Amino acid sequence: MPTNPATPATPDSAASAKVSSQPHDAPTASPAPAGRHRAPPCTLVIFGAGGDLTRRLLMPALYNLAVDALLDDGMQIIGINHGERETQQWRDDLHSALEQFAADKASTFHAGKLDDQAWNWVAQRLRYEAGEFEDDALYQRLAKELSGSDGNTNANTNRNVVFYLAVGARFFKPIIERLGKAGLLKQGDGDNAAFRRIVIEKPFGTDLASARDLNRHLLDFAQESQIYRIDHFLGKDTVQSILAVRFANALFEPIWRREYIDSVQITAAEVIGVEGRGSFYEQTGAFRDMVPNHLFQLLGMIAMEPPNSFDAEAVRDKKAEIFDALKPLAPDDVVFGQYESGPAGGAYRDEPNVAKDSRTETYAAARVHIDNWRWAGVPFYLRTGKRLASRRTEIAVQLKSVPFRLFRDTPVDALTPNVLTLRIDPSHGTSFDFNVKTPGPVMEIGAVRSSFDYDDFFAQHANVGYETLLYDCMLGDATLFQRADSIEATWAAVDDVLHPKDGDAVPVHDYASGSAGPQEADALLAQDGRAWRTLTPAESKKR
Ligand code: BG6
Repeated sequence: MPTNPATPATPDSAASAKVSSQPHDAPTASPAPAGRHRAPPCTLVIFGAGGDLTRRLLMPALYNLAVDALLDDGMQIIGINHGERETQQWRDDLHSALEQFAADKASTFHAGKLDDQAWNWVAQRLRYEAGEFEDDALYQRLAKELSGSDGNTNANTNRNVVFYLAVGARFFKPIIERLGKAGLLKQGDGDNAAFRRIVIEKPFGTDLASARDLNRHLLDFAQESQIYRIDHFLGKDTVQSILAVRFANALFEPIWRREYIDSVQITAAEVIGVEGRGSFYEQTGAFRDMVPNHLFQLLGMIAMEPPNSFDAEAVRDKKAEIFDALKPLAPDDVVFGQYESGPAGGAYRDEPNVAKDSRTETYAAARVHIDNWRWAGVPFYLRTGKRLASRRTEIAVQLKSVPFRLFRDTPVDALTPNVLTLRIDPSHGTSFDFNVKTPGPVMEIGAVRSSFDYDDFFAQHANVGYETLLYDCMLGDATLFQRADSIEATWAAVDDVLHPKDGDAVPVHDYASGSAGPQEADALLAQDGRAWRTLTPAESKKR
C-alpha cells in the first residue's frame, strides 16, 4: 500500500487530487502522477479471460490504471480461456462490455465516456490464447511465449509475470500445479530479479481443512511471497481509509479501546439476490461467502494494533494477531436466514439452480469477541445478507454512555450514544452522531449527525477496487493481500459453526425479501441489551 502524504484536506485543495485522474496523453510514456510511479514492466496472464470477473473488474481496473499512467509501456496481457477466438474478437468484447458499464449509473465503473487513448493503450497489449486449464500443452506453449523462444515477434519477453487466477476454485490446484511443473513459477534471487507472482481469488477453501490443503498445495509449487490472495474489500478506498482515520488523527486512537467503546456493528447488506449464481451460492451460502473473509477483514482493520510502518509484513502481522485472538464462534453466536418472497421479490428457493427445499442461508449474523487486552468484553456484531431492505456496507463504532447523569433533572429521557460510522458502500464517508442542546429556553438535548462525504472533498473517478490490488501486486506490495496464516486463523474461528460438534447444522430462519433480516437476528443482540442499526432505505437516503 504505497503511501503519499500529499492528500488534499479541504474542498479547496480537492482540485489537486484531480491530477491523478487526468488521462495520459499518448499510448506511450507520459509521466506517472506526482508521488506515484509506474508499475514495473510485466506480463499479466489472466486465466479465465472470458469470465465475468475479467470483464467486470479486471479490465475496468486496467483501463483506469492506464488512464492514470501507472502501467509500464512494456506491459502485456495474455488472456487464456477455453474456446477459439481471435484476439481482435476478445478486444471487441471487452470494449463493448466496458462501454456498457461506463454508461451504467448503477455500475461501480460508471466512467461516462471511455477515453479512447487509454483504451487503445490497453487494447494493443491484449492477446488471447485458447487453452484448457488442465491441458499440459497450454503450459508448454506459455513457457515458450514467456521466454520469447517461440519466434513470435509479438511475443512478450518480460521476465516479470503475474498469473491471475480469475477462475472457479476447482481450477486453483490444477493450474498452480501445472504452472509449477512447467517451471513457470521459478524466479531469480535478489531484489532486482524477475518475479513470478500468482493472484488467487476467493473462495480460498471452504473451511479450515480445505484452506490448509490449498495452502499446502500452493506452497509445494511457489513461495509464500509469490502468492497474492485477494479479498476485494481491501481494494476499496473506504476500507483502506479505516487505517487512515484511526492512525492519522489524534482524536480517535485514545478512545479506541474497551474503556470507551461499547460495541461495533459491521454490516454488509445487499439488495440484490444471488444474480444467477444459484449453483455457486447453494454450495457456499452467505456465511462462507462473506463472513470469514470480507467481514473479518473489516474487523481486522478496525481492531488491529497500530503497526510500526505500512510495510506489508508489519501490517499483516498486526492483523494476524487479531485473527489469532478471535474467540472461536459457537453455533449460538450466529443466526442464519433465507429470504422468502416479500416486497423485494420472490423467494431464494425459486431462483434458478437452487433446490426447491434448499436450506442454504442467504443471511448471516454473528457475535464475535476478540480475546485481547484492548477489546476484552467488546462485542463485534457482524451481519450480511441478500435481498435486504437497503444496500449498505458500513462499520458503526458505538461509544459507551457518559458516566454521570448530569441531565437527570432536565426533560431528557435518555442520551443517544455517540456513534462513529465509517461508510464503505454505496455512500463513501464518515458520520459522527453526538448530542447538542436544542435551541430554546429549556435544557433539552437533541441528537445530531456530522457527516463527511468523499465526493464533497475529493475528485473521484469510477474506481472498481481492483486498481490498487493489481498495481500493488505488480509493485510487489502484499500489504492488502492475505497471508496463509491469517486465512487459516479466520477459518479456524468459524470451524465450530461450519462443523458443529453436536452435528446439528445451524438453523436457517425465514425473512421476507426486502426486510432487515430474520427476527432471530434481533434476538441475538437483544440478549445483550442492544439492537441493530436500522436498515431502512429512508435512513440511508438521509445520509
Ligand atoms: C463477493 C460475494 O465476494 O462480494 C458476493 O461473492 C457479494 O456475493 C460481493 O455480492 C459484495 O461485494 P461488494 O463490493 O459489491 O460489496
